[in-house]
Amino acid sequence: MQTAIKTRRNPVLMAAWSQLTALTFTVVLVAVSPPLTVFEWAVLQGIMAAFINYILKADVWWIPIQLCFLPAIVATLALGVSPLWFGLGFCVLLLIYGRTDQTQVPLYLSSQAVTQALSAYLPQTKRFSFIDLGCGCGGLLGSLSKTRANGTFHGVEAAPLPCFIGKVKSLRSQSNCSIQWGDLWKQDLSRYDIVYAYLSPAPMKMLWKKICHEMRPGSIFISNTFVIPGVAPDSCVELKDFTGSTLYIWRINPGHNTVSDKSPDLVISSKN
Ligand SMILES: C[S@@+](CC[C@H](N)C(=O)[O-])C[C@H]1O[C@@H](n2cnc3c(N)ncnc32)[C@H](O)[C@@H]1O
Repeated sequence: MQTAIKTRRNPVLMAAWSQLTALTFTVVLVAVSPPLTVFEWAVLQGIMAAFINYILKADVWWIPIQLCFLPAIVATLALGVSPLWFGLGFCVLLLIYGRTDQTQVPLYLSSQAVTQALSAYLPQTKRFSFIDLGCGCGGLLGSLSKTRANGTFHGVEAAPLPCFIGKVKSLRSQSNCSIQWGDLWKQDLSRYDIVYAYLSPAPMKMLWKKICHEMRPGSIFISNTFVIPGVAPDSCVELKDFTGSTLYIWRINPGHNTVSDKSPDLVISSKN
């Protein structure tokens, strides 16, 4: 799977490296320092792991995970909690979120305001094709396919459970909407007039390369919330929803694969 992981250091490997380094220091300290309880050693290891992860410039939310990892294992072993619960929890998370360790894109859904703004933006009568890269449970596609019968809507999703839900919903609803289990990096974007993505900051640079390589001149790329570093959009639509979403819109033209610092030509705000 070709993913954003290539653009930055893998946070999971950094976390594992911090834990192992801290564990090695702790084992050395156990041999030379005054006796502590197992839990106290685990807390000390957690503090060291968090500190190492901080030095490695991991995202701030990794710090409490590093801090609590070993103390939590020691505590649950002491309390006799069955490891099956953790296995079960892991499987449920894997089904819902897929390989977020690789993609660095979790599941969160576009708001109703985004659906309405996109619906208003899409062609009213002309035929068009639309893809949602990482379509989650397909809610956005389902709603758009109902309001824009002149469009063909396609979604690709890598996480098993959201994809399954999306597929079931698309089978029961409009014939102009289909959802596929797969990797967005393997999609041929030249087949679509409008490409929509609501991902995370991690893959945006690499996604832009794919867009410039594959999308046809005149086609449209819309990113919810996440900008492409160094490439100003042609227009923005600011929305009044609970996350303060902004739709960034790029019209693809032959010279678009260059980095630009120009300001967007048009900013539309629905805040008032
Ligand atoms: C933030 S959610 C957006 C869901 C939906 N597009 C929406 O707007 O409501 C991003 C989704 O992209 C999926 N995703 C991330 N990387 C992917 C990849 N390489 N291939 C397919 N789906 C991916 C994630 O599993 C997640 O469900």
